Amino acid sequence: MSKVSERIKRTSVPDIFKNKGGVPLVCLTAYTYPMAKILDKHVDILLVGDSVGVVLYGMENTHNVTLEMIMGHGKAVVKGSEQACVICDMPFASYQESPELAFRNAAKVIAETGCAGIKIEGGVEMAETVEFLVKRGIPVMGHVGLKPQSINTVGGYKSQGHSEDEVLAIQRDAQSISEAGAFSVVLECMVEEVAAEVTKNITAVTIGIGASARCDGQVLVTEDMLGIFTDFQPKFVKQYIDLQKQIDEATQLYASEVKDRIFPSRKHVYQKK
Ligand code: KIV
Repeated sequence: MSKVSERIKRTSVPDIFKNKGGVPLVCLTAYTYPMAKILDKHVDILLVGDSVGVVLYGMENTHNVTLEMIMGHGKAVVKGSEQACVICDMPFASYQESPELAFRNAAKVIAETGCAGIKIEGGVEMAETVEFLVKRGIPVMGHVGLKPQSINTVGGYKSQGHSEDEVLAIQRDAQSISEAGAFSVVLECMVEEVAAEVTKNITAVTIGIGASARCDGQVLVTEDMLGIFTDFQPKFVKQYIDLQKQIDEATQLYASEVKDRIFPSRKHVYQKK
């Protein structure tokens, strides 16, 4: 099958955009080939989030994630998936400085990985960059509310939209990014009514994480949802399975079988023909 026909059956950015107000979009993070392969048929969007730094590399926050990391994981996720629209996060310091720098790095990510678009954090201050990218052929997903790349200015991982000022800021941020041409905006960790109001008022598709069901879609970090990553568990995470426990039990069994010489058994051993 040719590369072109492979890409045609994928969910595209316009498909996602057209779904505004429709059946909620399903999005999960993915960082690796095998996980992308498992998740692909169940989701509309696979997000190669910069959460990869915390979840896979044990970093304290997302600030040390590099373009090379995103490109490596993005390539693996595109390779492991056939249907989902793959979006790659732009790491901290790879886009904030200027629209031109953002374009150069975003183009690199798209060319290297084959992903359909990129995600950047920020609101009003990033609108010019969003417009610059979209006008030059780079689909952009925004990210407002709690912005993990800005935790040092905000002072931690806190839910947003409690005060009048916070509500206004979120509304302005989402509106400006949407008007600048973003096809979608992640709404992270905010009061339900604020997310609902933003979803109603902007043309971009909203993807909520800790922002209630009143968004156009939902995203979770896959390892949180599967109970693999449990270093911290925000209120908004629902753990659908305790894989950590299952991996622990399987590993314990493997270790005891090795020690007792039960594994490998005849079934796993080559005999002379
Ligand atoms: O980095 C990430 O995984 C994200 C999602 C949680 C939205 O930005």
